[in-house]
Amino acid sequence: MGISSPFKDQTHPYTLFKKLLPYALYALFPIALLRLYLHPPSLPQSPIDPLPNVNPIIFPSSSSSFSSSPSHEEESAYEIPCDYTNGKWVRDKLGPLYNGTSCGTIKDGQNCISHGRSDLGYLYWRWKPDKCQLPRFEPKTFLQILRNKNLAFVGDSMARNQLESLLCMLATVSTPDLVYRDGEDNKFRRWHFPSHNISVSIHWSPFLVRGIEKSNSGPNYNKLYLDYVDERWAGDMDRMDMIVLSIGHWFLHPAVFYEGDSVLGCHYCPGLNHTEVGFYEVFGKAFRTTLKTIAERRGANGNPIDVIVTTFSPSHFEGDWDKAGACPKTRPFKEGEKLLEGMDADMRRVEVEEVEAAKANTEQFPGFRVEALDVTKLSLMRPDGHPGPYMHPFPFANGVKDRVQNDCVHWCLPGPVDTWNQILLEVMKRWDDQSRRQV
Ligand SMILES: *[C@@H]1O[C@H](CO)[C@@H](O)[C@H](O)[C@H]1NC(C)=O
Ligand SMILES: *[C@@H]1O[C@H](CO)[C@@H](O)[C@H](O)[C@H]1NC(C)=O
Ligand SMILES: *[C@@H]1O[C@H](CO)[C@@H](O)[C@H](O)[C@H]1NC(C)=O
Repeated sequence: MGISSPFKDQTHPYTLFKKLLPYALYALFPIALLRLYLHPPSLPQSPIDPLPNVNPIIFPSSSSSFSSSPSHEEESAYEIPCDYTNGKWVRDKLGPLYNGTSCGTIKDGQNCISHGRSDLGYLYWRWKPDKCQLPRFEPKTFLQILRNKNLAFVGDSMARNQLESLLCMLATVSTPDLVYRDGEDNKFRRWHFPSHNISVSIHWSPFLVRGIEKSNSGPNYNKLYLDYVDERWAGDMDRMDMIVLSIGHWFLHPAVFYEGDSVLGCHYCPGLNHTEVGFYEVFGKAFRTTLKTIAERRGANGNPIDVIVTTFSPSHFEGDWDKAGACPKTRPFKEGEKLLEGMDADMRRVEVEEVEAAKANTEQFPGFRVEALDVTKLSLMRPDGHPGPYMHPFPFANGVKDRVQNDCVHWCLPGPVDTWNQILLEVMKRWDDQSRRQV
């Protein structure tokens, strides 16, 4: 087990609601990343051939076992899985389940209303998939399905964004205790819901595979070892029943990639004399290693595990990252107003392909289930959902300054990420239904 293991016991549980934790800025990697968006180092073409068609259906009807065997059991609502990928945002009077003060775990920079964001229209939209309905999030159902289980979020700050949305929605019906946190940056945390004996944890791992993050003291680029999973989270795998993987933006940074004993290449590493290989192929390899390792380790001891891959979350910089109005929109794009293309589309495509490949390659591990949580398009349509200047409190208290830092990458909470968890619950309901039928 790694040094930072949310499953390590701590003698003094922190109670979530007793105090607002002093959240250190959590690797928002602000300057470097935002600069990268501003001055993209001419991104190389994807080294993999673009597929003619990316299957737009993320939940293909693999439910043939149901449909081919007409039974007398009651009809399952999940027999034909909904395609949540495509749809539109429609007005919603109900608004979010929670607010920025009700759950105590929202990172300050994403707690937009508490930082003075006053246009609140962005809270009143719901995602309407083209061919079905997406029910409102039901915290009680979520907790019932997860009873006695451990759910782990593994990834970067986007994983944290999703985890905090989920915790806030669950906390409306059951209060979790924070039972573990790593001293540094709260990158590893675990909560326990005594009402249902559920653990929810977060494990920092921006590459999923073993990596050395660039630092001020060390090299100015990341090092990725594509053959090995990052044991900081994988060492805890035996304790996990469900894993949500969410990575992406860190792959845009300068990096050197290792495979076996040799250097595979690099991304944006002038002066290092390595071959530029871009990041799409290595992004896929990181998932391949990760999904294969999970399937093998858990398949070997017959221990079921469910894996969700949250697809790439687009950012929305329109202007300079350090000027007011970097992501100024206050309403979603209308249908057809914005197309999924370029890097956003390619990152998503790589993830969807790896998930489909893992399904095909891991048939010998019946306890291993994996699905893409395809949020790229619906998130792309929400340019209004980012903190923007409200990553800092009351940025315009003294008028509009020359420079104001903007976060157009992460999402306000409450906000569009709540919809990701709505879809997550629908996948879980479908899986739960399948498991029951198999018993
Ligand atoms: C936030 O939610 C809590 C709990 O539901 C409620 O007591 C409080 O009044 C709300 N605050 C705001 C500003 O709406
Ligand atoms: C709580 O869940 C864990 C598995 O996550 C299980 O080992 C333990 O027995 C459960 N405790 C109770 C009281 O059911
Ligand atoms: C760069 O790499 C090539 C091929 O590996 C090698 O021949 C060359 O000597 C290297 N140049 C430097 C400056 O290290």
